[in-house]
Amino acid sequence: MQKNAQHYIMRAIELAKLGHGHAEPNPMVGCVIVNDSGEIVSEGYHECYGEAHAEVNALKMAGEQAKGATAFVTLEPCNHQGKTPPCAVALIKAGICKVVIGSIDPHQLSTGGVKTLQDAGIKVEILDDNDCNKLLAPFTKRVTTGLPWVICKWAQTTDGSTITPEGDSPWISCKESISRVHEERGCVDGILVGANTVIQDNPTLTARGQSPPRMPIRIVLDPTLRSPVNANVFNDDATTVLVHESLQDASSYPCETIPADMTNGLIDLETILRTLADTYDVTNLIIEGGAVTITRFLDASLVDELWVFKSPNESNCRSYINMNDLIARHSAECVVERPSGVDTELRYSVNF
Ligand SMILES: NC(=O)c1ccc[n+]([C@@H]2O[C@H](COP(=O)([O-])OP(=O)(O)OC[C@H]3O[C@@H](n4cnc5c(N)ncnc54)[C@H](OP(=O)(O)O)[C@@H]3O)[C@@H](O)[C@H]2O)c1
Repeated sequence: MQKNAQHYIMRAIELAKLGHGHAEPNPMVGCVIVNDSGEIVSEGYHECYGEAHAEVNALKMAGEQAKGATAFVTLEPCNHQGKTPPCAVALIKAGICKVVIGSIDPHQLSTGGVKTLQDAGIKVEILDDNDCNKLLAPFTKRVTTGLPWVICKWAQTTDGSTITPEGDSPWISCKESISRVHEERGCVDGILVGANTVIQDNPTLTARGQSPPRMPIRIVLDPTLRSPVNANVFNDDATTVLVHESLQDASSYPCETIPADMTNGLIDLETILRTLADTYDVTNLIIEGGAVTITRFLDASLVDELWVFKSPNESNCRSYINMNDLIARHSAECVVERPSGVDTELRYSVNF
């Protein structure tokens, strides 16, 4: 029985997400091929950057069953010869009769798939689907603005503190939250922290989940080079980029460096984000603190999402920055709330 387009697009979104951490800097894309009777005859997704696109994987699985079928794809089929041939042409050659598209491709280079399909006499339906647009958001931001998608992540007590009364933070979260963070780290391109976090917590900032798809680069904002050269973040486990004031000599640090100009004592964060995208191919960036650095990115309107792990404990210490107030001040909208061990994981969307 034929179901509505939304049903098949939702399945294509589920498939697309399987590529998270592998597909980037390409977008995550999923595709299902459905016959006249409404049966899904094949499925595919973009499994890995540089490899076959979702449509090609689905067409391969469909074989002869693609003739006369409908393809539901989360993103407009590409129209250019890149690392793989154009998907619009592959759909035409396979005999697909209709293509339902979740989002139009924001990339100047690959858009045009709709026209190619229509010129070949194929029916095209464009949904402009909210969930497909969300799936595509980091890719859209990067290709339209040159900036990475920025997620601020922190652990806090119920009363909004990122530090415990003893003045430390690493153990605010329960072990389930910590392991969830390691899984997420393994799907992004970069993790950024401020100098105080390096000095006070000495974090390693690596992805230590199960078979992480990628190892993010580590970025430290330390204008006056206060971080110890033997801090864990400078070990060989991953690439590290130290951002410092251009007048400082960072040659003793065993890592890559970005000398930055300062304005009113601050590094321009937008310029740094642009450099991370252009030079280090960063599409998804997590800012892991501390509160000063997170506040500066939020105040500069450079943040897209907040991921908060809220412990059930109170800190009862007067944190210099209260994260509950910070969330309220930026009118962040809570889009996910779920348990994470004894903690609560909250995700907010930030719309400036
Ligand atoms: N609960 C959590 O999730 C979590 C996570 C991380 C850290 N923490 C805790 O938070 C504390 C450290 O956080 P914090 O808020 O004090 O500091 P922080 O954010 O780690 O570091 C702040 C410093 O980073 C540099 N920086 C940040 N943005 C800059 C900019 N735009 N331009 C120039 N420099 C910039 C500055 O260094 P200069 O001062 O040298 O200019 C600034 O003082 C520690 O106690 C740590 O345990 C908690």
